[in-house]
Amino acid sequence: MKLKDILSPLLDIRAALSFALLPFLITVIKNPFLLLHPSKLSRLFFSLLWTPFSEGVDSAARSAKQGLVTPYAYGVVLDIGAGHGHTLDYLDHSRIKRYIALEPNEHMHSQISARAAKYGYTKEKDNFDIIPFGAEEIERIVMRIGGEHTIDTLATIMTLCSVPSPQKTIQSLIIRTLKPRGGQILFYEHVQSDWHDVKYWQSMWTPIWGIFFDGCSMNRPTHIWIRNSTEWNWDEGMSKMWTEESGESGRQLFSFRSGRFIRQ
Ligand SMILES: *[C@@H]1O[C@H](CO)[C@@H](O)[C@H](O)[C@H]1NC(C)=O
Repeated sequence: MKLKDILSPLLDIRAALSFALLPFLITVIKNPFLLLHPSKLSRLFFSLLWTPFSEGVDSAARSAKQGLVTPYAYGVVLDIGAGHGHTLDYLDHSRIKRYIALEPNEHMHSQISARAAKYGYTKEKDNFDIIPFGAEEIERIVMRIGGEHTIDTLATIMTLCSVPSPQKTIQSLIIRTLKPRGGQILFYEHVQSDWHDVKYWQSMWTPIWGIFFDGCSMNRPTHIWIRNSTEWNWDEGMSKMWTEESGESGRQLFSFRSGRFIRQ
């Protein structure tokens, strides 16, 4: 790897601090009880950072999302780690019955509701919900969505890097929420590289990176965990995975995989 690629997270961390540190400190000084709750602190920091960051992150991923979400999402959609609800911008709304956002960070809920309302999804119409749980709280999620096997489309976009117990969480979400025979997962995630040197640097950066970016791990083979979760329908190219090599030869800390897998 090139030195500039190895050090590239420093630029992101510097940008994160320049956006979020001052408002973060002001909030903590006003609410010192937050110091007793590290997870609240981390969510606060990430929400302050996500407001200026999310538009750039979204536009960098625009063409991938247009190829993944727009043509395929349908029915009842469960958006895991909805953030500010950017997935809504890519849905073909004529094919969506209900949009459910799973987002444990309550600082982000007002943005999700506002974006959903813009496209006609509201709690009053019963075609919208926000679930304030983590992806690992599978029992509570299943109850809230109205039972097992009720979801047509699970969408996960740059989320699974930061869920706890990822293998178990991913498998439970897929098996418990998706309809068998036809339910699909649409994913766009940055994953562990196939290159040994990149893998090494991903593991070196992960503990530091996670402090600033909501516990995000750079070194998870998320795409393999998804593929290994259950039996998928591989008939006639129904299920497929795309590799998006970012930059020259893909030897980058962030390499992305998208996929659409359909349950058997
Ligand atoms: C995925 O499944 C394959 C085949 O069962 C197995 O060889 C591989 O180790 C699994 N990979 C991961 C990352 O769990």
